[in-house]
Amino acid sequence: MRSILFSAILFLFVFEGCEPKGKEIEPDNDFEISVPSYFGSFNERIPENNPITTKGFELGRMLFYEKKLSGDNSMSCASCHQQNKAFTDGKAVSPGIDGISGEFSSMSLVNLLWAEHFTWNGKMESVEVQSTEPIRNPIEMHENFDDAIRELEEEGYQRLFQEAFETEVITEELIGRALAQFQRALISSNSKYDQYLRGEYEPTPSERRGEQLFFTHPIPGQLRGGNCGDCHLGPLTSGAIDEFQGFHNNGLDNDENMKDGLMRVTGNPADKGRFKTPSLRNIALTAPYMHDGRFETLEEVIEHYDNGIHQSSTLDILIIEGSNENQASGERPELFLTDQEKDDILAFLHMLTDEEFITNPQFSNPFSDENF
Ligand code: HEC
Ligand code: HEC
Repeated sequence: MRSILFSAILFLFVFEGCEPKGKEIEPDNDFEISVPSYFGSFNERIPENNPITTKGFELGRMLFYEKKLSGDNSMSCASCHQQNKAFTDGKAVSPGIDGISGEFSSMSLVNLLWAEHFTWNGKMESVEVQSTEPIRNPIEMHENFDDAIRELEEEGYQRLFQEAFETEVITEELIGRALAQFQRALISSNSKYDQYLRGEYEPTPSERRGEQLFFTHPIPGQLRGGNCGDCHLGPLTSGAIDEFQGFHNNGLDNDENMKDGLMRVTGNPADKGRFKTPSLRNIALTAPYMHDGRFETLEEVIEHYDNGIHQSSTLDILIIEGSNENQASGERPELFLTDQEKDDILAFLHMLTDEEFITNPQFSNPFSDENF
């Protein structure tokens, strides 16, 4: 087995005069993660019992691409989370080893250190838990853990577990921890938008207008806006981290055909149809879109927000109150964007593509040149 040398990615950026903070994960650790200061702190979301170490990251990377973790050795995590698609799979919903499709679209694995609830309806509390669930899940990798562990032992993984966790005893928990370490290191912070924030890239007029529109809450007659940044917050473009505040009903369905979403986790009817607000980083690479992959293109997504909102009892207030024109109360919310404004928002979304992230050799398949 090849051993992968991880040399730390070092980015030190200063944004609007703030000092870079949260630079290092563990002072006496060999694995260092540095991120732009405008990403905010992250140390508090690394569990004390699972700091990221170079050996843990390397093991996690191998397990992520390890087909032996599936029932018929045909599928790894990377089958549905492919690096060149920003760790998605290009499908509306993702079929597992038995060809049975789940109800959800694969999610990009990016900047997970700035999230607290995982999966579309928020049912997973930690990356560790969400990392072993697909292995067992009958519509995903459909493997039994005793078999998986035996196959890893046959491959000689004991040594790697020894190096990463100081024990040769392979357990489900340690598999989850190693996978989580690898995934927490999947940080995308070198898109054109980041380069612009660091003063290294001059945006086109359309990109600049798109950024403005994206982050502006409209006030009819005074301020034009696309309202996106109300939910896709700040440079991370993901939802709020606290509790379930980052879960919203963005008007995909009316009450009759709406899926449970967060209600499945909380049991609260007010949470019906609320889903996790995903990060839009690398969004141009992760089609199709939404929890069920219903939109093929970003143009369709923008049309949805502009003029395709479905009314329902749990439709988010930020959508109801976000219009460029005065609408009568109870009227179906619309944004009333011009064609130029839609193009501008699209240009901004394309700025979020990070070529370095999707080609970074440290995140790629250690076993072959294949992507998965
Ligand atoms: C058959 C396709 C498939 C496979 C294989 C698969 N996943 Fe996923 N992954 C998905 C889908 C679909 C979702 C969304 C699930 C949901 O919302 O319930 C997801 C969600 C996730 C998330 C949550 C991301 C977030 O931002 O909330 C993580 C983490 C994850 N997968 C990690 C893994 C790991 C680790 C493996 C390998 C052990 C793996 N996945 C294997 C399809 C897959
Ligand atoms: C009320 C909060 C809210 C607002 C406002 C909002 N979004 Fe979203 N967005 C979400 C949520 C929640 C999802 C996931 C919904 C789902 O799949 O059920 C989402 C999904 C998306 C997706 C698909 C992501 C993926 O991985 O499939 C894109 C693209 C997107 N939004 C772009 C935008 C743009 C552009 C705007 C502004 C025009 C915007 N959003 C405004 C909450 C919001």
